[in-house]
Amino acid sequence: MPDSTPVSTFDLVGRPVHRLGYGAMQLAGPGVFGPPKDRDAAIAVLREAVASGVDHIDTSDFYGPHITNQLIREALHPYRDDLVIVTKLGAVRGEDGAWLPAMEPEDLRRGVHDNLRNLGLDVLDVVNVRSMGNIHSPAEGSIEKQVTALAELQREGLVRHIGLSNVTAAQIAEAQGIAEIVCIQNHYNLVHREDDTLIEELASQGIAYVPFFPLGGFTPIQSSVLSTVAQTIGATPMQVALAWLLHRSPNILLIPGTSTLTHLRENLAAAQLNLSDAVLAELDVIGEAGGGH
Ligand SMILES: NC(=O)c1ccc[n+]([C@@H]2O[C@H](COP(=O)([O-])OP(=O)(O)OC[C@H]3O[C@@H](n4cnc5c(N)ncnc54)[C@H](OP(=O)(O)O)[C@@H]3O)[C@@H](O)[C@H]2O)c1
Repeated sequence: MPDSTPVSTFDLVGRPVHRLGYGAMQLAGPGVFGPPKDRDAAIAVLREAVASGVDHIDTSDFYGPHITNQLIREALHPYRDDLVIVTKLGAVRGEDGAWLPAMEPEDLRRGVHDNLRNLGLDVLDVVNVRSMGNIHSPAEGSIEKQVTALAELQREGLVRHIGLSNVTAAQIAEAQGIAEIVCIQNHYNLVHREDDTLIEELASQGIAYVPFFPLGGFTPIQSSVLSTVAQTIGATPMQVALAWLLHRSPNILLIPGTSTLTHLRENLAAAQLNLSDAVLAELDVIGEAGGGH
């Protein structure tokens, strides 16, 4: 059985990574478009994350676009052997910052090469196929063409492992008929609980579940229950939201995003936070009240 205490690891790519990682999306400019306000601060956040033990970074070449990957390269290249960089494909950015689907095999091939170039790598550790059915929630529909294209890039040696993002259980099953799937990245947090059953299924298969928007994304979670619990146990609401996810299931890997060192330190400290059964039960009510099921 995998260790289910918060300070633990989970096997992502044939070796364990720490369950508290880092999501790099917030490093680009406003709206995940253009350069950051403070480039040195972005570099400092990346370096401190890795120096603090983060060995799992989530990114995409469509953050910026290109800029987030270029920051990761500038801050961290040559990469530590134990660092797993997970990227995603499925969109490009319009000149106005719009998120445009780019799901054809030639788009995915171009996306792999863009990631390799901007990250300064010869092979990508993990590539998530990001379904663009709906922007923040999965929509049924075949992803066979996309997963087949990724499996071909894997055979060519450009991609080590394949994951999926913004997908349904049926799409995961379809993809598993084509290639091994190592992780699923969907929208999930204390309030947004649609994937409760899926998380259990993936845990039983030993597949990592990596929630995006773990803190609520562009509008961080606000809940009086969360604030009260946090105050009672002497932590911040965001730390409790992360610790709840770590307690939720041992296959959950976290990639909270931040552009500041203060929030990075606060978020990483959540790995030390043990929540009692009573506190977990209290927090569970938030998802029910929020209609997240
Ligand atoms: N697959 C997908 O479709 C998809 C979609 C979205 C995101 N992602 C990935 O998931 C990662 C996480 O998602 P996310 O960054 O959008 O959302 P998130 O981690 O839920 O929240 C990030 C937001 O919370 C703020 N924040 C972070 N730590 C905080 C703290 N301790 N106290 C108060 N505010 C805090 C950040 O602002 P500050 O910068 O001020 O800290 C930012 O506004 C992304 O970085 C990206 O890699 C994937």
